[in-house]
Amino acid sequence: MNSLVSFYRSSIGKKVVMSLTGLFLCLFLVEHLVGNLLLFANDGGHLYEEYSQWLVSNPVIRVIEVVLFASLFGHALSALVVWIKNRRARPVKYAKYRLDENAELASRITMLGGSVIFLFLVVHLWSFFVPLRVTGTTMTAYQLVVQKFSDPWFCAFYLFALVVLGYHLKHGFQSAFQTLGLMHKKYQWLLGLTAFVFWFVLPAGFASLPVYFYFFSPPTPSAVVLGVQ
Ligand code: HEM
Repeated sequence: MNSLVSFYRSSIGKKVVMSLTGLFLCLFLVEHLVGNLLLFANDGGHLYEEYSQWLVSNPVIRVIEVVLFASLFGHALSALVVWIKNRRARPVKYAKYRLDENAELASRITMLGGSVIFLFLVVHLWSFFVPLRVTGTTMTAYQLVVQKFSDPWFCAFYLFALVVLGYHLKHGFQSAFQTLGLMHKKYQWLLGLTAFVFWFVLPAGFASLPVYFYFFSPPTPSAVVLGVQ
C-alpha cells in the first residue's frame, strides 16, 4: 500500500494514473455514444428510454458509474497536480512561442482544453444527470435532449466543447501510449488508427446529436407519447 502511495506521489505515477483513467474514460465514451445513437431511432424516444431504464436498474452499471466518477476525479486531480509541479519547476519563461518548441505552451493549451471539458461536464451533468437521477423530473431523458438541443447557444457550446475534446483526446492518446510504453514501431499504424477513432470519430458522433436535434427537429417533447416512464 505504502509503495503504491509513493508511486502515485512520483510524476510518473501520476502520469500512469492519468493514462489509465483517461483510457477508461475513453471506453465510457464509446458506450455513451453507442447508447446516445439510439436517440436517432425515430421512435419518439422509446428505445432510448428502455436503454436508460436498463442503465439505472443494472447493479453492474451502478458500480461502473462509481468507478467512472472516481476516474474523472483522479484524472483531473492528477493533471492539475502535475501541471502545478511543472510550473513551479520552470520559473524561467521560454523565449520562443512556437508550439513544437515550447512544452510550456503545449501544456497550457492542454490544461485550458481540460478546463473547457470540465466546464462542459458540469453543464452536461447539470442538464441531464442531475434532473434524471438526483432531483427528479417529469420529463424523460429523450424529452430533455429534445428540449436542450432546441437552444442554439446550448448546441454551439456543445459543438465547441466537442472540438476541444477531440484535440484533448488526440494529444492525450499520444501521451498515454508514450507513458505506458506502447509506442512500438510495428504497431504504430494500429495505434494511430485507434487514436483517430477516438479523437475524430467519437467527438463527430457526439456532435451529430445537437446538429440533428437542432436542424431536423423531431416531435416536440409535449407531442411525444412514451410508453415507458
Ligand atoms: C452530445 C451528445 C450527448 C448526449 C445527448 C448525452 C446525453 C446524456 C444523458 C441523457 C445522460 C444522463 C443519463 C442517465 O443518467 O440516464 C448523460 C450522462 C453523462 N454523460 Fe452524456 N451525453 C452526450 C455527450 C457526452 C460527452 C461528450 C461526455 C464526456 C465528455 C459525456 C459524459 C457524461 C457523463 C460522465 C454522464 C454521467 C454518467 C452516466 O449517466 O452515464 N456525455 N449524457
